[in-house]
Amino acid sequence: MNDIYHRLKEKIKDRTLKIAVIGLGYVGLPLSLEFVKNGYTVIGIEKNEKRMSMVNKGYSYVEDVNGDLLKDVVNSKKLIAADDYSVLKNVDCINICVPTPLGKTKAPDISYVLDVAENIQKYLCRGQLIFLESTTYPGTTRELVLPVFERSGLKIGKDFFLVYSPERIDPGNKIYNIKNTPRILGGITRKCTKIGKYFYSEIIDSVVEVTSTDAAEMVKILENTFRSVNIALVNEVAIMCNRLNLNVWEIIDSASTKPFGYMKFYPGPGLGGHCIPVDPHYLSWKLKSLDYRARFIELAGDINSEMPEFVVNKITESLNKQKKSVNGSKILLIGVSYKKDVGDIRESPTFDILNILEKKGALVYYHDPLVSSFVLNKDEYKSKPLNENLLKRMDCAVIVTDHSNVNYKTILDKTKIIIDTRNVYKNYKSRKVVRL
Ligand SMILES: NC(=O)c1ccc[n+]([C@@H]2O[C@H](COP(=O)([O-])OP(=O)(O)OC[C@H]3O[C@@H](n4cnc5c(N)ncnc54)[C@H](O)[C@@H]3O)[C@@H](O)[C@H]2O)c1
Repeated sequence: MNDIYHRLKEKIKDRTLKIAVIGLGYVGLPLSLEFVKNGYTVIGIEKNEKRMSMVNKGYSYVEDVNGDLLKDVVNSKKLIAADDYSVLKNVDCINICVPTPLGKTKAPDISYVLDVAENIQKYLCRGQLIFLESTTYPGTTRELVLPVFERSGLKIGKDFFLVYSPERIDPGNKIYNIKNTPRILGGITRKCTKIGKYFYSEIIDSVVEVTSTDAAEMVKILENTFRSVNIALVNEVAIMCNRLNLNVWEIIDSASTKPFGYMKFYPGPGLGGHCIPVDPHYLSWKLKSLDYRARFIELAGDINSEMPEFVVNKITESLNKQKKSVNGSKILLIGVSYKKDVGDIRESPTFDILNILEKKGALVYYHDPLVSSFVLNKDEYKSKPLNENLLKRMDCAVIVTDHSNVNYKTILDKTKIIIDTRNVYKNYKSRKVVRL
């Protein structure tokens, strides 16, 4: 046992450790590059053929991954993408970064993780170190993943090591990256935690160990639930300020001048992305099985998912003031991805806004410098170039996402009404602008 453990440590130290990253998405691709930057060689296993071949050609599909860097890394054979799990026979470390979405009934869909676990099990070898990095509910690693690996006959903490370590990447964040964001980890056994910490300490400035995989899973879900609940709170404050005829942005900015005891969150058109709208439901689902109702999570989910409707009501009222109906109006959505300066459209509230508007008979168009097209309800939508001609034809523009690379001044000059869900017109006084 000691042999295996010490050999792993040596490989980590002298950079001969071979790593496989499973799932080259928003999490797995930047992580693979970080490993390469630290001197390791990585094989990425990606089942989406298009993504796999893009990586092998050095084309990036993730904003935070620089295309030139990816090309260099691929050309120097430090990163290769494959779709065949048999390569796992020859690696020392495996990082699982596959999706953990919700099913139709909002129950966790853990099938990607289980599918990967089954595939790893076929090739599991003595001396391998495995990290699960996908976000999931407490108990997943210990109750579901470990038993699959144990079917190989190998012994946890002796023959192989299993650690849960949640990725905390924040796409588009220019200050915090993989290296300077502290990493949480917890192993199944003490040895698992120790070797996991030893590995990540080579790559990341600060590694925080917790007592178990369950605890590490819970830490990640707490972080995302904290965001969901606080965003729900300010979204409700926005609804209340609307009734009170107050500017919610002024209220929040003023409250944030208090140097202690207050943390700033802003309202918006609804939650989006693969994490905040999804992860808290993993926890509430788990708690249901323990006869407990996670009330904050449910309430936050309700309020956040009502925000698209609130935005549409603002549009309706504003058009009404101009003696226009939503039916037949031309409405331009600015920014369709869920987050500023990121092209990720998963779970974006834009789609709810678009659906509601179209059901009411509006003609909806969009402009997004980062999303050239998308398909919704089998229809393809294409981003319109932002020009005076387009803006003059519109009855209303809605700032859904506040990307940097958009000419907001032209929108203000040429559009009849603007619904500003992100306070981009904070410094402008104009009757055209209707804030959230
Ligand atoms: N996106 C974020 O900002 C973020 C941040 C922190 C944590 N997470 C968590 O990380 C996990 C991954 O998220 P993501 O945003 O990278 O998802 P993603 O969809 O961008 O990437 C996942 C990749 O895994 C691939 N894949 C799926 N099944 C596979 C299989 N069996 N074998 C090989 N490849 C497979 C998919 O094709 C996809 O390319 C999720 O659990 C998510 O909650 C995401």
